[in-house]
Amino acid sequence: MKKVHIKSYGCQMNVYDGQRMADVLGQEGYVETATPDDADLILLNTCHIRERAAHKVYTELGKLRDLKRERKAQGRETQLVVAGCVAQAEGAEIQRRQPAVDLVIGPQTYHRLPELLAQAKGGRVVDTELPPEDKFGHLPAPKPAAILARGVSAFVTVQEGCDKFCAFCVVPYTRGAEFSRPVAQVIAEVERLAQAGVQDVSLLGQNVNAYHGDGPDGRVWTLARLMRRIAEAPGIARIRYTTSHPRDMDEALIAAHRDLPQVMPFLHLPVQAGSDRILAAMNRKHTGDEYRRLIDRIREARPDIALSSDFIVGFPGESDADFEETMRLIADVRFASAYSFKYSPRPGTPAAELSGQIPSAVMDERLYRLQALVEQHRQEFNHAMVGRTVEVLLERTGRHPGQLAGKTPYMQAVQIESATHRIGDRVLVEIERAGSNSLFGRAIEQPVLAA
Ligand code: 5AD
Ligand code: SF4
Repeated sequence: MKKVHIKSYGCQMNVYDGQRMADVLGQEGYVETATPDDADLILLNTCHIRERAAHKVYTELGKLRDLKRERKAQGRETQLVVAGCVAQAEGAEIQRRQPAVDLVIGPQTYHRLPELLAQAKGGRVVDTELPPEDKFGHLPAPKPAAILARGVSAFVTVQEGCDKFCAFCVVPYTRGAEFSRPVAQVIAEVERLAQAGVQDVSLLGQNVNAYHGDGPDGRVWTLARLMRRIAEAPGIARIRYTTSHPRDMDEALIAAHRDLPQVMPFLHLPVQAGSDRILAAMNRKHTGDEYRRLIDRIREARPDIALSSDFIVGFPGESDADFEETMRLIADVRFASAYSFKYSPRPGTPAAELSGQIPSAVMDERLYRLQALVEQHRQEFNHAMVGRTVEVLLERTGRHPGQLAGKTPYMQAVQIESATHRIGDRVLVEIERAGSNSLFGRAIEQPVLAA
């Protein structure tokens, strides 16, 4: 039996891609293994968004070269593959830096993995085409057992690429232009997942709310329309989508948060910064106040919505006053959670050429203050749940025997003690305590819906 070890870095879209590559390789007789040591094929599914993420790949490749040598000495061959965004961005350079790599494959050609692996047996191969053809149409569907093994929550990529060209971001170059999967293909995939037992789907895209897929009626469907249709799929109880751009939050999408009970009251809507001057330099095409007004409209539609964001500190030219504007925006909006990063200049992006790059120590200090404020809001949001009763979808066994872990509609992790409930149950839980990373509660009734 051939074994493959897949390691995904970066965003959820890479996790999804990793699963689809496992499906392709499954057809070729590969089974997945959790460690590289016993793998005949090791696949790194890489991220290029910040320098540190890209750098990690080369450190890992150094270790894997040694592993490959050791296995060879034992008479076993190992194929080493670099996929994902570093593959797309750096191509043949990867094999120049690490000759042990057999195959470099970009994110748009995963359906060709078997043929490229065969080719790589005869010498190193690079394929980083960004072909217009639809790779999704060529990827095999996972079997129900494989779907269930991945859990009751699933990712479905519905959109790839980005046309926004934020000045700091490599995505428009690594993932190419915006592409939306046709509606029928997405629905077929969601229904297959639902039939296998999936109840919670996250629709993924680098700019997912710009979704504009061809509908079965010959029209172009928006994300709101797609979600309305997905909400009709039997078994799908929870729908989320990520990542969105403020400019693409249209009225229908906001209304979907009010009208569709399956659309969860959680929204990741990156703002990146609070200063209008920096937002303009970032080419975000909105101001801080436009973002605030948008949040007001979303909260009008769904008052309890939990909001999340991404922030970059130390974009070139960011002054202390600019940074204080970011802090002011955070104080105004009060996010339930957020990711924040030090600006990292990326090759080929306009911001990398700008003067006024910010010293690392200044960025560290800003990041520290920003994260402390977000953390305070996150804790307050979580503590406000104590005493409330919320629906929890149980997704896995907990850390201790008898514990089950799941999520609230607001994306908070919850642990309960129960001998009677099972993974896949949606149960009403009274929250008794808020820990630093998890809520703890007690199921107050029998399962709402048995798996
Ligand atoms: N430097 C730091 N953070 C970045 N991001 C994107 N590009 C960069 C960069 N060059 C962050 C943004 C984006 C998230 C996925 O990563 O905040 O929303
Ligand atoms: Fe990058 Fe997101 Fe901006 Fe697109 S919208 S360029 S993916 S940060």
